[in-house]
Amino acid sequence: MIKSVKFIISNTDFRKCPSPDKPEFAFIGRSNVGKSSLINMLANNKGLAKISGTPGKTQLINHFDVDGRWYMVDLPGYGFAKVSKTMREEWEKMIRQYLTLRENLEVVFVLVDSRHTPQQIDVEFIYWCGQNGIPVALLFTKADKQSKSKTSLNVKKFLDKMLELFEEVPDYFVTSAETSMGREDVISYIQEQVSDFYQNNQQS
Ligand code: GTP
Ligand code: MG
Repeated sequence: MIKSVKFIISNTDFRKCPSPDKPEFAFIGRSNVGKSSLINMLANNKGLAKISGTPGKTQLINHFDVDGRWYMVDLPGYGFAKVSKTMREEWEKMIRQYLTLRENLEVVFVLVDSRHTPQQIDVEFIYWCGQNGIPVALLFTKADKQSKSKTSLNVKKFLDKMLELFEEVPDYFVTSAETSMGREDVISYIQEQVSDFYQNNQQS
């Protein structure tokens, strides 16, 4: 269960993020895939993270405190075509630094649009995470937009792609910000890891 989610701070620099004393879960994926919507769905607060029909809405690293126990982080999306080379390079630097150097990062949820067959840019990003030892879980988004069988087919194709790169498929969830599909499962998954974090870091 989630009781209270509060916005803390927005940054371009991981060094200015809140002190890494709580386990952290970040949400990333292609621009417009539904990261901010999913965060709002999990928090049960439609006004929390800014949502837009136009890609490129989220441009900063946004920290939210959940029940004083963990951080939820909304990240800017990748693959937004209408961006200058300089902006793309800035994004890459900011995100790569954050993902590789943020010490309390438990899991990066990579959001994948369930309406599409596997996209190269997602596969490459996940591969990069793997190479850098960054733990990844997949969230297939917008499952309300097509039939269950279409979603299952796209999910299967994506998981097959994962098996070409890794020995095992990452943990994954099928979600919809519209219907709240997957909400309980994702929250339980996070909360299990939050409990483990505090158990392992208990002062004796
Ligand atoms: P950037 O911040 O620009 O990278 O985008 P984002 O990934 O945060 O996407 P955002 O949450 O802003 O959503 C983009 C668009 O998709 C909005 O118009 C949302 O209303 C819509 N959307 C997001 N999730 C869902 C979903 O589960 N179902 C449906 N039907 N629409 C969704
Ligand atoms: Mg966003």
